[in-house]
Amino acid sequence: MKYITFGKQGPQVSAVGVGTMRIAGMDPQQADTFVRSALAENINFFDHADIYGGGRSEEIFGTVLAADPSLRDQMFIQSKCAIHDGMYDFSKDYILKSVDGILARLKTDHLDALLLHRPDVLMEPEEVGEAFAELKKAGKVRQFGVSNMNRWQIELLGSGCGQPLAANQMQLSIAHAPMIEEGINVNTAFDGGVVRTAGVLEYCRMNDMVLETWSPLQKGFFGGVFLNDPDYPELNSLLNELAEKYGVSADVIAYAWILRLPAKMQVITGTTDPKRLHNAALAADITLTRKEWYELYKAAGRQLP
Ligand SMILES: NC(=O)c1ccc[n+]([C@@H]2O[C@H](COP(=O)([O-])OP(=O)(O)OC[C@H]3O[C@@H](n4cnc5c(N)ncnc54)[C@H](OP(=O)(O)O)[C@@H]3O)[C@@H](O)[C@H]2O)c1
Repeated sequence: MKYITFGKQGPQVSAVGVGTMRIAGMDPQQADTFVRSALAENINFFDHADIYGGGRSEEIFGTVLAADPSLRDQMFIQSKCAIHDGMYDFSKDYILKSVDGILARLKTDHLDALLLHRPDVLMEPEEVGEAFAELKKAGKVRQFGVSNMNRWQIELLGSGCGQPLAANQMQLSIAHAPMIEEGINVNTAFDGGVVRTAGVLEYCRMNDMVLETWSPLQKGFFGGVFLNDPDYPELNSLLNELAEKYGVSADVIAYAWILRLPAKMQVITGTTDPKRLHNAALAADITLTRKEWYELYKAAGRQLP
């Protein structure tokens, strides 16, 4: 496993993290097996959100921690808040209340990181800063970050919230890569040149932020897995070819494509299958060549200008 430094000081977190959005239906035994499988793969990073399964994902994870509290020290636990009642909400009261709920469900006294899940257009950075300061002082949250934010939104929030923003969690896969397309097609009139993230890849890299990537195997917006999808014949053929070359399965190559980017990249896998967790972990040990990386980019239906 490869590790990256979360924030300026750390701790070290695995370049492959486990997403818990799809674990709400597990029973305590399945959740225990799932969590221990991740740890056995040297994955120490667990990504939650207060809304996953309506809180059930955190609850079931909490049963694992309650049964064996010694597991907590082996983990970096992150959760997210800001989505509720059909809106996005960065108000102080809501953030504080949400974190209390998260900690109660997870059966832990602190989060290693709290991310704000989606940008609230009505945000007041200083108000967020008051919430962050209170949470930090109380020892409830150690570090902070954001999700689904472009460069300017991060700068705006960072200018007033008084805490370093250590991570940004964004959707990225070979089949969904606007942040890469906008850089490759800069100043062209091609569709790929449409600026959707304001250079967030470069921004995170320059500011030492972890770029956590969600839905690493999905096409579109929760459009399903692109592996073996007949709409992506060229991509799947190349993934299979490279999988054979590296002696792994195609999903490993898809994760390795993300981790090849020269930033603090992290893959957040959503698999619920311990065997597939093993595959995700393998990706951290594969470095695709520059040629392979670009060929995969193009095989998903793109051209270079
Ligand atoms: N910040 C945000 O706005 C945001 C949004 C969405 C998600 N997230 C985070 O990102 C995490 C990952 O998202 P995701 O679940 O959409 O990611 P994903 O890993 O791209 O998708 C997971 C799905 O793909 C299936 N899958 C995995 N490996 C496969 C393979 N080799 N062949 C076929 N199917 C395979 C899984 O089924 P099995 O379980 O059967 O393997 C599962 O249904 C979430 O858990 C959450 O923590 C964040």
